[in-house]
Amino acid sequence: MRGVVLAGGLGTRLDPITRIINKHLLPVYDKPMIYYPIRTLVNAGIEDIMIVTGGRDAGDFLRLLGNGREFGLKHLDYTYQEGEGGIAEALGLTRHFSRGGKLCVILGDNIIQGNVVSAVRAFARQDRGARILLKQVPDPGRYGVPTFSGPEIGEIEEKPAVPASSYAVTGIYMFDETVFEKIDRLERSDRGELEITDVNNQYIREGTMRWDVLDGWWTDAGTVDGLLRASQLVADTGANNL
Ligand code: G1P
Repeated sequence: MRGVVLAGGLGTRLDPITRIINKHLLPVYDKPMIYYPIRTLVNAGIEDIMIVTGGRDAGDFLRLLGNGREFGLKHLDYTYQEGEGGIAEALGLTRHFSRGGKLCVILGDNIIQGNVVSAVRAFARQDRGARILLKQVPDPGRYGVPTFSGPEIGEIEEKPAVPASSYAVTGIYMFDETVFEKIDRLERSDRGELEITDVNNQYIREGTMRWDVLDGWWTDAGTVDGLLRASQLVADTGANNL
């Protein structure tokens, strides 16, 4: 399985910190933010990784990461997202990289304590469809939130005013090769983006979405509070089972 780290976007929720630096290069405790999602993929046994980035300073990623030697990788792939078209648009840029196989996708600001190895192995055995990781949170309305009908997910609602459950859909997604047809069918949301939640809902409707609950803590570091929380969690307990 190949891996993708999505590290584009303008990081406006962290303005003015992100006015002259890409969000994913900001420090989380003692490392640049993007180190953590790369480590999450590598710890799951994924060695072919593409970084999707954008903005003025995309070259900084190459200078920082090179070919990924620090992570034990032989090579890293990079691609460039023009503008601010959303997570699903960024993922669409990895079509050639995927070579018709399965992908494990992680948002560049998602940091976890443990690892996703069992979910990745389960998805490798899954004959088709997608797999997501859920986590119970105190503030689900900030995230994609699943509604349940029995053990199955009925739908994912993006940032609902009245959340149907206490679970957040974390930014770790596994997709089969049909993800690109699904992205092609998307229409822009009210915020002008192609939404990953709309991709996930297509898998749910065709009955091929599976899910696991993530062990250990999870946080996104894309807001001021989230960035602080991420540094504190890493300082207190470490991340990625390191
Ligand atoms: C995105 C997704 C959301 C998901 C979250 C996880 O939100 O749209 O469904 O729960 O990542 O970090 P964003 O951070 O782009 O608002």
